[in-house]
Amino acid sequence: TFFCEYKPGLEGIPAAKSSISHVDGQKGILEYRGINIEELTKKGSFLETAYLLIWDRLPTKEELKQFETNILYHRRIKYRIRDMMKCFPETGHPMDALQTSAAALGLFYSRRALDDPEYIRKAVVRLLAKIPTMVAAFHQMRKGNDPIQPNDELDYAANFLYMLTERKPDPLAARIFDVCLTLHAEHTINASTFSAMVTASTLTDPYAVIASAVGTLAGPLHGGANEEVLLMLEEIGSIENVRPYVEKCIANKQKIMGFGHRVYKVKDPRATILQDLVKQLFGETGQDPYYDIAVELERVVEENFGHKGIYPNVDFYSGLVYRKLGIPDDLFTPIFAIARVAGWLAHWKEQLAVNRIFRPTQVYTGVHNAPYIPIEER
Ligand code: CMC
Repeated sequence: TFFCEYKPGLEGIPAAKSSISHVDGQKGILEYRGINIEELTKKGSFLETAYLLIWDRLPTKEELKQFETNILYHRRIKYRIRDMMKCFPETGHPMDALQTSAAALGLFYSRRALDDPEYIRKAVVRLLAKIPTMVAAFHQMRKGNDPIQPNDELDYAANFLYMLTERKPDPLAARIFDVCLTLHAEHTINASTFSAMVTASTLTDPYAVIASAVGTLAGPLHGGANEEVLLMLEEIGSIENVRPYVEKCIANKQKIMGFGHRVYKVKDPRATILQDLVKQLFGETGQDPYYDIAVELERVVEENFGHKGIYPNVDFYSGLVYRKLGIPDDLFTPIFAIARVAGWLAHWKEQLAVNRIFRPTQVYTGVHNAPYIPIEER
């Protein structure tokens, strides 16, 4: 018996009760634990946001200090993980490297004591601490360098940029990167979060939960779109080519990367904040030709698709920010993952508290009593 209509992509079907985040797709509002994202990005930090998402309240000054210290302490990765990563092909995509390495953490830390709050706390700290180190380590090793050790003088965002470039970033760059992490930290039940929840619901270890979410985030319809946006802006190449490009996409029924969202039918509030950050960065580092193309593209897409509710999503401007920060294109999605680990862990914890294994049903469309045809007769 089917109680509800089949909806491709489970559109509009609630898969859980959750108090972690809220999206109003008509008004363009995103809240983490009830706090507006604009306020959080102005006043808070990424680690404070991660704490809020995972433990359901803002930390006190002491709690935040302790959390930051614990993360700093766990940032290093074991040499066996580093050596394993050394064997990865340097042409491999960093998301694949990250998925493999995240899963490998389970080999070292999987005690699977899911009813022990101390185990949960440590898993949260280890994953938040080590994922950025693994992304940066793979990037260094694929260039033939040794990984750069985390720098204890630097905070979470600054340290990641340092491990990537071996230069201490200037404070504005580090602050902007921290804001980008906060913006990407959580977004209700999207594909990767759902994947994390399904994996969590089997009571497997948290490293498997994060590894499965990373694999899901990698696709071009989800986190992979930010990398595609930059490729698209390069392909367009000039403001004059924007309109012909959009017309070609319409004729070929091809989606324009960085636009559209299952929930938002107006401009994604994260895209607005990211666009402001791009402008701030330009003040520091000069104009970027791709920004002008992006603004024109937004205008032409709105003209053609605005009536369908197709506006820029989070991925449209994030790539421009990252490129300005000197980050290679294929690390954009791993950076999304670094941030989203906070949201995935929050949903993992929420799932464990009320767990029932996910086991949806299907609408069977096959035949019955089909004959087995012997192989010689096929
Ligand atoms: N360009 C052109 N048309 C679009 C686009 C787009 N980017 N997105 C949706 N549409 C059209 C689509 O063709 C369809 O039109 P029609 O009703 O005439 O057939 C209508 O809008 C609904 O699209 P849909 O694909 O059914 O919508 P969905 O909710 O299943 O998909 C989406 C949402 C984000 C996957 C989709 O908008 C898309 O593929 N966008 C491009 C990729 C992208 O930017 N992804 C990042 C998403 S936000 C961050 C994240 O999730 O990681």
